[in-house]
Amino acid sequence: MDKIVIHGGERLVGEVTISGSKNATLPIFASSLLAEGENRLHGVPDLKDVKTICEVLKNLRVKIARGKGGDYLLDSTDLIGHEAPYNLVKTMRASILVLGPLVARTKRALISLPGGCAIGARPINLHLEGLEKLGAEIQLRHGYIEAKTKGLRGADICLDVPTVTGTENLMMAAALAKGETVIENAAMEPEVVELAEVLNKMGANISGAGSSIIRIKGTRRLMATEHTIIPDRIEAGTFMVAAGVTNGNIHIRNCDFEHMEAVVNKLREAGIEILREDDGARVIGNKRIKSVDVKTLPYPGFPTDMQAQIMVLMTIAKGLSVISETIFENRFIHVGELRRMGARIKVEGNRAIINGVKGLSGAPVMATDLRASASLVLAGLAAEGETEVSRVYHLDRGYDKLEEKLANLGAHIRRVKA
Ligand code: EPZ
Repeated sequence: MDKIVIHGGERLVGEVTISGSKNATLPIFASSLLAEGENRLHGVPDLKDVKTICEVLKNLRVKIARGKGGDYLLDSTDLIGHEAPYNLVKTMRASILVLGPLVARTKRALISLPGGCAIGARPINLHLEGLEKLGAEIQLRHGYIEAKTKGLRGADICLDVPTVTGTENLMMAAALAKGETVIENAAMEPEVVELAEVLNKMGANISGAGSSIIRIKGTRRLMATEHTIIPDRIEAGTFMVAAGVTNGNIHIRNCDFEHMEAVVNKLREAGIEILREDDGARVIGNKRIKSVDVKTLPYPGFPTDMQAQIMVLMTIAKGLSVISETIFENRFIHVGELRRMGARIKVEGNRAIINGVKGLSGAPVMATDLRASASLVLAGLAAEGETEVSRVYHLDRGYDKLEEKLANLGAHIRRVKA
């Protein structure tokens, strides 16, 4: 397993261009199952999770061609598959995103039940209950979801929690259902809005995406389209924190400011200067980081995917900060590793209380999930001495050439191949 080795203490200076959004790419790739013809996608990030969703789609006989850079062609005209096997789904739970489109297009699906993961149980009950409301018959047998339908029909669905992939799965299924579907308490993330835009370009009739009530008027057929993936707001936020923890000064290209209000406001409160510049942001660190309290919430609140990253900033802030994680039940695994680097953090239930210290010290640490691994890299950038992050395959799932981008900003960072 590869490791990343960092010699901390370097100020990050220069320019970085953010890659396409992982969490927009995955549902948009899954939506290719709904449309006949060639979907032409651009700005797709080079990630392990993108490779995995391609494996899942190829297993369903979707034709996939990769052009230069982030260009992809996906053609499901001759879609005949309906199974997403355990060996693929177990590596990426977001494979569940093929369930809705498969049932809508082929009237059946056999999808391995995604298990839990490091950060929580990650149930999918709302995906399944919503599909049943749309007229699918769901059976759970031998670790698989067996879904079939005589034809999906529009329904009123009210979600207990604003599940992101649940909203996306149901929106895709409803796009080909007969009649109108209303999804209440829908997730409002920018990636949900992006998916609705792609579906409408395919010929769907969706309104309200980005609000908590989404209306979908089913259509008979959808036709392939062309689309460029939005930038990854979590990668952009990660680089903003990188500038903050190294007292750096960086220009982040290709980032959507309006998708990052909660993160930008919180980082400004902590003393980091963030200005609009060209197609992105200018981020200027500060020697005196102030401690701030953070509570993760569904969009437009502070994103849970930025919780581990801002925690690193708080470990070297002046004073006491409290971070409350309200989305996932076990998303503080990075705390133990940060403590090894000298951080003073106490966890009480879903709250982490951080006492800022003068500085962190480099140490060997282990990544446990995608965003925790990013936080350990950030800690290594700030720490005195050498930090070795192991199990960086977690990082490769969701960050496109992270160490290359950081090295270009002046970080002393390298990947050691296993
Ligand atoms: C999406 O996961 C993202 N993944 C996650 O990003 C992100 O952390 C999460 O949304 C929250 O923003 C993708 O978009 C591919 P949820 P998802 O369903 O959809 C509960 C990353 O780092 N819930 O919105 O799986 C669930 O337990 C990843 O890029 C149910 O109870 O998250 C959780 O507490 C990590 N029943 C809450 O909802 C359900 O049927 C939010 O989960 C579904 C969810």
